[in-house]
Amino acid sequence: MDLNIQNVIKQYGSVKALDNVSLNIPHGSLVCFLGPSGCGKTTLLRAVAGLEDIDSGKIMLGDADLSHTPARSRNFGVVFQSYSLFPHMTAARNIAYGLECRSWTKAQIATRVREMLDLVHLDSQAEKLPAQMSGGQQQRIAIARALAPNPSLLLLDEPLSALDAKVREELRNEIRALQKRVGITTIMVTHDQEEALAMADVIVVMKDGHIEQTGTPQMLYQQPQTSFVADFIGRMNILTLDKATEDKATGNDLHFADKILKLDHSNSGHTAPVSKVGIRPESINLLPAAQAVADDNHFPAIIRSQIYLGHISRLEVVPDKRPDIKISVEMHGAANKTGVLPQTGDAVTVHLPADALRVLS
Ligand SMILES: Nc1ncnc2c1ncn2[C@@H]1O[C@H](COP(=O)(O)OP(=O)(O)OP(=O)(O)O)[C@@H](O)[C@H]1O
Ligand SMILES: [Mg+2]
Repeated sequence: MDLNIQNVIKQYGSVKALDNVSLNIPHGSLVCFLGPSGCGKTTLLRAVAGLEDIDSGKIMLGDADLSHTPARSRNFGVVFQSYSLFPHMTAARNIAYGLECRSWTKAQIATRVREMLDLVHLDSQAEKLPAQMSGGQQQRIAIARALAPNPSLLLLDEPLSALDAKVREELRNEIRALQKRVGITTIMVTHDQEEALAMADVIVVMKDGHIEQTGTPQMLYQQPQTSFVADFIGRMNILTLDKATEDKATGNDLHFADKILKLDHSNSGHTAPVSKVGIRPESINLLPAAQAVADDNHFPAIIRSQIYLGHISRLEVVPDKRPDIKISVEMHGAANKTGVLPQTGDAVTVHLPADALRVLS
């Protein structure tokens, strides 16, 4: 069953924590709520969990309206950032506890606890107390505990953020694999874009209580619709157009560095006057000065700085005709197509491929 969030509003005093949020979460998918601190991720997750009353709107699971169902009757599994295991209970008892509350029989509980420990690969830790386990192990037990009663939804609020980088990466792969195996619809809150890109079927980018954009990791990276999304997911050069463009009522010609930039078809539907376009650092070509380029999307520039990082080199170039703008360029390996890494002070031709330029609102 899909989870359907309809026009949800939640206000704390004058703060609109959720400002008319609507979203459909397909059955069996893993969805990440991604956004900066205070954008409303936790509030939305808690509203879905039933831990937070909403002011208006609806939360539907299939045909069932859960908007006013108490948390304990929703049958959702929840895991929070800080280890929320009962400190005086062993791993096995932690997993069993929720099943005892649901009046499962002793035999059913024993079987289920073994299954869950096996699922998170911690059979050997059954009799340990939380304090005797690593952070990563504790979070895996917390996930096992959440999944034990067969919830219809798994809700994770920054479950990896207290762990160190290596464990984090291991565990995110493990959670993803486990989620696919169990096939449970899962919502995970994170403010880590790499985590969201690596794990999610769908990413929901939030800002100031509303959804900026929803899409697959590829869609959000390749077709960001706003400067905020472009900048929050990966790195993006945001080029404000030359003054001439803004003055034009039609906004059809995109002047930049005294050139008229051409965009490909997927960008051509813009109706409002365009004031900025974006391009990823790795999409830009640097060519020797005065080299001929097939299309018109190129202009002379000077290398302002270059950093060699092994797998990539990161350069900053400044267009001759737009000295106010620094464009970040990333090249794979040490060299460009001519086999030479441009050096600081070099004159180059910057080429912005039409299919890599994005109109941003
Ligand atoms: N119980 C509360 N009382 C008053 N204001 C709250 C409460 N909970 C959240 N807020 C406010 O609502 C907004 C959204 O908070 P929320 O916790 O959902 O953000 P978040 O995206 O989870 O941030 P973080 O990444 O820091 O966890 C913030 O402005 C926050 O201060
Ligand atoms: Mg939060």
